[in-house]
Amino acid sequence: MKGLILSGGSGRRLRPLTHTSAKQLVPIANKPILHYVVEDLVTAGVVDIGIVVGDTGDEVRASVGDGSRWGASVTYVDQEAPLGLAHAVLVAGEFLGDDPFVMYLGDNMFEDSLERVVDGFVESGEAARLLLARVADPSAFGVAELDDAGNIVDLIEKPADPPSDLALVGVYLFGPAIHEAVRSIEPSARGELEITDAIQCLLADGATVDHRVLDGWWIDTGKKDPLLACNRLVLARLAGTGVVVDDEAEVGDSTLVGPVVVGAGARIVDSTVGPSVAVGEGCRIEGSTVVDSVLMDGSAVLGCRRVVASVLGREAKVQRTRSADGPADDAAVDLSVLLGDHSVVDLAGGVDDARGWDG
Ligand code: DAU
Repeated sequence: MKGLILSGGSGRRLRPLTHTSAKQLVPIANKPILHYVVEDLVTAGVVDIGIVVGDTGDEVRASVGDGSRWGASVTYVDQEAPLGLAHAVLVAGEFLGDDPFVMYLGDNMFEDSLERVVDGFVESGEAARLLLARVADPSAFGVAELDDAGNIVDLIEKPADPPSDLALVGVYLFGPAIHEAVRSIEPSARGELEITDAIQCLLADGATVDHRVLDGWWIDTGKKDPLLACNRLVLARLAGTGVVVDDEAEVGDSTLVGPVVVGAGARIVDSTVGPSVAVGEGCRIEGSTVVDSVLMDGSAVLGCRRVVASVLGREAKVQRTRSADGPADDAAVDLSVLLGDHSVVDLAGGVDDARGWDG
């Protein structure tokens, strides 16, 4: 069985972070989401992996490489524009051949083992096997309608009036019949070749489209709040309520409240960090409190009373600067930001002991 990871697309909902980098490379507990996806496939025995890439292809290639560090072999497939999930299958046709494959959206993470999902698919003769999860807001996803016998009868992409609360999770298993289906569909109203339409074709042809309903959590990390929720869950899995601090990080006069991970070269002084904070390599946290946040490599929080539910891009900085005006009146306010790489936020004032950070 082959793997096809979709790592193109535009990452609109995580701008400005995704102006400069791929949304699939945003770190969760200090590791890019895409690396979890590759590991998940390899653990399920899927080592021949294609990765569909778009504008951010160079960055994805640099991060994942040839896959050998996971014992996998990675082939890159260029997609000229994000023209839809079914379009990604279309452009990957040569790589996939007639092999059954797992299509895995590169910004999705889920708790259940992929092994259980894949089990028995190749021998089953199913044209597709879909993963479904019960969600509170189905209209944000592809939604499945089941009949009384529990068979899928309809799939609708982001319906205004959802027929059920069963969303399509970003993992799909396909046999070779999907290739004919993706060639036969037309772009949807939003201009994309929808995988849901291609699967509808399979259903219309009388092919078997099976499904599994997830037990554990599933997160489409494409927006800030789900991204932070995912960070919390993975940090808890990794560290429990403990802290994992790299040997080459420096922590002084500070309290770390787990789960927290701290990368190499990070420096935390005179601060309280956690719970649920991932501090990337080379980050600085000084004179601040940081809670429930992702700090990407090289970012800094300096002299801030409380930074919460924030995502800081690489080398981004939030700092309280010196001011002649005395304490700022925002001193009691929690700060929550989503910052792109190299962004700078200056909070003027509030440093009454002549400390402060100048740029
Ligand atoms: O997360 C699950 C949802 O994923 C499903 O419930 C929906 O049915 C499915 O359409 C999809 O919806 P999204 O709006 O979340 O898809 P998004 O545009 O975020 O793309 C998902 C991944 O696929 C993402 O990593 C980018 C990549 N992609 C997307 C498109 C449209 C590509 O590589 N090429 C593309 O053309």
